[in-house]
Amino acid sequence: MSFPTHRPRRLRRNEALRGLVRETRLSTSGLIYPMFVCPGARVRQEVSSMPGIHQQSVDQIVEECREVESLGIPGIILFGLPESKDPRGASSVSAQGVVQRAIEAIRKTKLKLLVITDVCLCGYTDHGHCGVVENGEVSNDSTVTILAQQALSHARAGADIVAPSDMMDGRVGAIREMLDEHKFENVAILSYAAKYCSGFYGPFREAAQSSPQFGDRRSYQMDPANAREALKEVELDLEEGADMVMVKPALAYLDVIRRVRDAFDVPVGAYNVSGEYAMVKAAAQKGWLDEQRVVLEILTGVHRAGAEIILTYHAKDVARWLKAC
Ligand code: PBG
Repeated sequence: MSFPTHRPRRLRRNEALRGLVRETRLSTSGLIYPMFVCPGARVRQEVSSMPGIHQQSVDQIVEECREVESLGIPGIILFGLPESKDPRGASSVSAQGVVQRAIEAIRKTKLKLLVITDVCLCGYTDHGHCGVVENGEVSNDSTVTILAQQALSHARAGADIVAPSDMMDGRVGAIREMLDEHKFENVAILSYAAKYCSGFYGPFREAAQSSPQFGDRRSYQMDPANAREALKEVELDLEEGADMVMVKPALAYLDVIRRVRDAFDVPVGAYNVSGEYAMVKAAAQKGWLDEQRVVLEILTGVHRAGAEIILTYHAKDVARWLKAC
């Protein structure tokens, strides 16, 4: 006994009904806006492959942070373009580094914005790998030591959350230990736990000037074909003390987001990465897609898959659109 007793269309007749029975409600309170900080003053340079996204000096970052907070977005994640690069990414741990200075400047404003920092070496090494290279390989354990120092320098500058994105083994534990040792037990760790070796990071590497100068990241980032391995990575990061975990990229990994959500009782994030942003922007500019509609559909899908936190370059637009609905 189905039709005519059951008529699912009854609940789709108008917006009030559709709103009432809506299962997934995208909200600004789960969004994080990524930002790129560079040296200098009054610098605001648009990234050509990411329309609307800029490399900015600290003063400009602070201005945009005011806007981000006024839109109701709870936090930002900072990426640094340092003054100088070297084989070990030394500028990444400096108290005078771009990210560290940006955090301090944001803190001085008394904004309530959560300041998250990306912890990695790829933007700071001259070879562009996420770790130090020894004997032709990205060395895990020496990298972990530097990452822990970097996370500490971010905490000292006033970061609320550190987010290691390098995919070295054991870095979450090393960072937790370093933070605790220096009385930063309240600084949280959002781990890029399942980060895939993805072609969708292309535009980011222009934005962060972080392309590897030789080889690729396959020896540390995950194989896109693996989902069970993601659960293992998440499990290990949680054991080591991660407070929240992230899957990255988002769109091609919705199944992974769902599996992580179902398997663990911690907040789960997803990174709607640069290539995902660039595809939508490019098609919208050509008039091939309705940008607002498609972005809300994509982010609703990521949220429905199980991510309650979404890092996205669309965050400011989405906040405006959600306010208007
Ligand atoms: C650094 C890092 C990357 C991204 C975030 N952190 C790039 C990479 O691994 O090459 C990508 C973000 C994006 O594409 O938006 N390791």
